[in-house]
Amino acid sequence: MIIVIDGPAGTGKSTVAQKVAQKLGFTFFDTGAMYRSIAWMLLQEKVDPANREEVCRLLPRFKYEIKIDEKSQRRYFVSGTDVTAAIREPTMSSAASKIATIPELREMLVKIQRKFGHHCNAVFEGRDMGTVVFPDADLKIFLTAKPEVRARRRFEELLKKFPDMNQTLDYGQILKEIEERDRNDSTRAISPLKQAPDAHLIDTSDMNVDDVVDQILGLLPQHKSYFRKKWLYGFSYWIARIFFKVCFRLKIYGLEHFRPGAGIVASNHASLYDPPVLSVSCPEEVHFLAKDSLFEIPLLGRLIRVLNAHPVSRSATDASTFRDLIRLLRDGKKVILFPEGTRSSDGGLRPLERGLAFIVSKGRCPIFPAYIQGTFSAWPSSKKFPRLFGKISVVFGTPIEWSDFEGLDKREAERQLTEKTAQSFKELKDWLERGAEGVPP
Ligand code: DC
Repeated sequence: MIIVIDGPAGTGKSTVAQKVAQKLGFTFFDTGAMYRSIAWMLLQEKVDPANREEVCRLLPRFKYEIKIDEKSQRRYFVSGTDVTAAIREPTMSSAASKIATIPELREMLVKIQRKFGHHCNAVFEGRDMGTVVFPDADLKIFLTAKPEVRARRRFEELLKKFPDMNQTLDYGQILKEIEERDRNDSTRAISPLKQAPDAHLIDTSDMNVDDVVDQILGLLPQHKSYFRKKWLYGFSYWIARIFFKVCFRLKIYGLEHFRPGAGIVASNHASLYDPPVLSVSCPEEVHFLAKDSLFEIPLLGRLIRVLNAHPVSRSATDASTFRDLIRLLRDGKKVILFPEGTRSSDGGLRPLERGLAFIVSKGRCPIFPAYIQGTFSAWPSSKKFPRLFGKISVVFGTPIEWSDFEGLDKREAERQLTEKTAQSFKELKDWLERGAEGVPP
């Protein structure tokens, strides 16, 4: 799902977008930071932001990264230099507004922004998100506020960020700059700042941040059932997690290999405990397939439905199941699959079926390989009822990227992908049996 929030400077876009993303568990993208980062690079190179030719010459050198620091704050890097604070200086605002009129630069950034949004649940904030970058966004918001209110907010924000500037900061000057930037942004020939016809307009002049956030969440399609489902998932997740932690001393390794967005969590399969154990081991919401007969068992049926199980009638190769899987991946979800097909009868690893590679090639997403140990002795396929105590471990390995196989012939790509996944299961098993030292392979 993509939510876009556009509007001029000082309407509270960044704070609101960040809060909406946080509440929904979505990724947040501040596209203004990209324009500011290019402006920073140009000023470092002493290039005039109004010189289109010079700016275009430098564009291929723009290397941009977003990282999350230990306080869960976003940090922006240009060619390895942390520019998070520097890009907020007032000189960067006017330089960013000037370069934003260059068509080649916008074209390059729009491509990067669309790539970020591919297979991802995200909130994007900027100027042209609803009109140009994501015209099909699921929800479009356009924020406005009176220029005087925006200038006051900017003044206070700058004072908080750069307290040394309290002698030089001038409210009247900021108001003038804001009006000039509005003019620049809304009169430029390419992608001017304007409200998309299907965007919801919110005037934030007399509203606080939380009210704006609530209003946006209220506009989400089926937001009530969405939140109810999210709450139920969270609740069941913790009950199941506590159960496995207490009764089975569940240990999870390799979480550093996880990243947001679509993907298949592929694992060995030896027990009916595997889907819930993997679900509670993943750091984000996951989906899985379960035999339709399981949905008819009174309590279990309800529990697995809440935990995002999707009924499958015979096997994952059914056309309708396949369509459901691809839809989930396109929506940016993670899906658990057991490529060995059926449960192992002795707890050991089994050969993999080709279905996994086929789904990956259609969903164009990474595989997050995982190895589960201990569920077989807790509940082997030969036993009708599970044991209630034991020891279970889950190890996540280095993601296998579909893009590494994309250039190969289709059959060869699927063969190599299957082989690599089987190899990964084996390596994770060995790593665990060798004593689980360091980061899993
Ligand atoms: O949102 P901001 O103040 O950080 O944006 C800085 C400048 O970047 C703004 O003046 C216009 C430009 N911009 C743009 O043209 N399109 C976007 N999607 C985001 C920002």
